[in-house]
Amino acid sequence: MVDQQRIWDDVAARQYDTPGEGMFAPEVLGPAIEVLAALADGGSAVEFAVGTGRIAIPLAEAGVRVSGIELSHAMIARLREKVSDDVIPVVQGDMTSASAGEGFSLAILVFNTISNLLTQDAQVECFRNAARHLIPGGRFVIELWVPQLRALAPGHRGTVEVFEPGYLLVDTVDTLTQHLVSHHVRFGAALEDGRDAVIGRSPHRYIWPSELDLMARLAGFERESRWADWDRSEFTGESTSHVSVYRLVG
Ligand SMILES: C[S@@+](CC[C@H](N)C(=O)[O-])C[C@H]1O[C@@H](n2cnc3c(N)ncnc32)[C@H](O)[C@@H]1O
Repeated sequence: MVDQQRIWDDVAARQYDTPGEGMFAPEVLGPAIEVLAALADGGSAVEFAVGTGRIAIPLAEAGVRVSGIELSHAMIARLREKVSDDVIPVVQGDMTSASAGEGFSLAILVFNTISNLLTQDAQVECFRNAARHLIPGGRFVIELWVPQLRALAPGHRGTVEVFEPGYLLVDTVDTLTQHLVSHHVRFGAALEDGRDAVIGRSPHRYIWPSELDLMARLAGFERESRWADWDRSEFTGESTSHVSVYRLVG
């Protein structure tokens, strides 16, 4: 079992936030918060794997009551530097089993984080845990990438996803287990401590969109929407990511 606590340690937590840039850019966060606030529909939200509050904090500022579940002490500590427990209560635990309460109208799991669960069983359990948090008719929103296996050259087990000055991202894939490891290599002038290169790895289990829908059904959800992005653009066969909205039947 991979130790997610070790991956999401103090160093990762300290480096996670990039205010105004990357995943913290207003053009990324703005549409996501608008969609999530609308889907909360006047009720409260629980974010699984809340991290440092990238989504939870602006969503609370938009008027939605938000709670969180998060495995990593370090990520919670970083969130606590920004908001108190009164504003965003967080339960430290695993999103497949931890409880932040019940009666929520919205559960959220974004930024590909369901893929951090490395077995199909754990991923289904995550849906079941979302169902336990929600009122009947409540929604579970998942943001996830589409596996890009067409990019694998015949006989090859990896792809270079990013190759830019000072940074290389290589994904290696095991198509039997649906395990994918992202190898993040930072090198050259980007390193301040004189080292030649630093490598960080994150393991994932990729999920096909249709497989995700079946996991949802096993936990009592039906799919309400699927968009290519938070701007509600059309999801097509060429889309590399999706935002999927599931509604708890009942
Ligand atoms: C990519 S970050 C996403 C954080 C936040 N949701 C965001 O959008 O910025 C992934 C987070 O998932 C957390 N995580 C990984 N596995 C988890 C699990 N089984 N239960 C709860 N949190 C988990 C990590 O500690 C980390 O904070």
